[in-house]
Amino acid sequence: MYKVCVTGAAGRVAQTFIPLLCNGSIFPDKKIILSLLDINNEPQIRELNGLKLELIDCNYPNLISISTHTESNEAFKDCDIIVFIGGFPRKPGMERKDLLKINSKIFTEQGLALKNAKEDVKCLVVANPCNTNAKILYEVCKKNGLKIKKENITSLSRLDQDRAEGIYKDMYKKEKANIFIWGNHSANLFIDTLDEDINKDIENNQQFLEKIQKRGAEIINVRGSSSTFSAANAAKNHLRDWCYGSDKIVSMGVVSEGDYDIDKDLVSSFPIKCTGNWKYEVIKDIKLNEGKKTKIKKCVEDLQSEASEIVV
Ligand code: LMR
Repeated sequence: MYKVCVTGAAGRVAQTFIPLLCNGSIFPDKKIILSLLDINNEPQIRELNGLKLELIDCNYPNLISISTHTESNEAFKDCDIIVFIGGFPRKPGMERKDLLKINSKIFTEQGLALKNAKEDVKCLVVANPCNTNAKILYEVCKKNGLKIKKENITSLSRLDQDRAEGIYKDMYKKEKANIFIWGNHSANLFIDTLDEDINKDIENNQQFLEKIQKRGAEIINVRGSSSTFSAANAAKNHLRDWCYGSDKIVSMGVVSEGDYDIDKDLVSSFPIKCTGNWKYEVIKDIKLNEGKKTKIKKCVEDLQSEASEIVV
């Protein structure tokens, strides 16, 4: 049984994610105790109350109980997993880092509230800028002596991986792709692969890289609001692979130990091997040519610049 809190539960991404959580698409063998958190505003409270009624009506076999909250201290109590979706969303013309000032307050407060969760709580940050919001959680825990393990604080770069693989397959008419992501979930992210054919295709195609880097903005421009279903689906894939393991290389934002010259304690996307039972390893023996090293350095500069703005 897992107690799972979803923040920003009144919003679109959460409301797409929650059915995946309750219908067994993520944890088919686990019962779920659901804790829904959003801000203390009338529209959000009404949304949460309505959502609760609908979830009861869905009669999901795995869903045991639902509670709604406007206080993170209450919402996080005894949680095994917290999915941080709540935050101000990006609008046309904004970069994800423009949200740092608004969303960092939320993450500083929620970092402190982690004291109420289980000590081995698993955290996935979806709200942007997700890498640096996850770093805020990590720094708040460190500063306040919370025993949350740093390897349990992660951010979502799986959306970029899923996008890159989906767009690659569509563009090159291939059935399979294995691409992974370095760095920040930003317009500086860098895509890579261990497959020689795919490597040739993507190294010679700057437009492909740019398409992935700017896909979030493309969606915002086309529909007027940010991605929903693909973000929820990527969060599902991230949690499922982290929990049960995966044969393929996956991308996850994790607290850096300094591998590949990515500063220790930045939260960056790395190529990851998930080995099951909530364990993972950064894949350490990937050979990088000078061109790739330069691109990763750019990602690091991006993350450093975001990190320099946080105060915990
Ligand atoms: C995305 O990449 O689609 C999301 O992170 C939303 C955004 O701001 O781009």
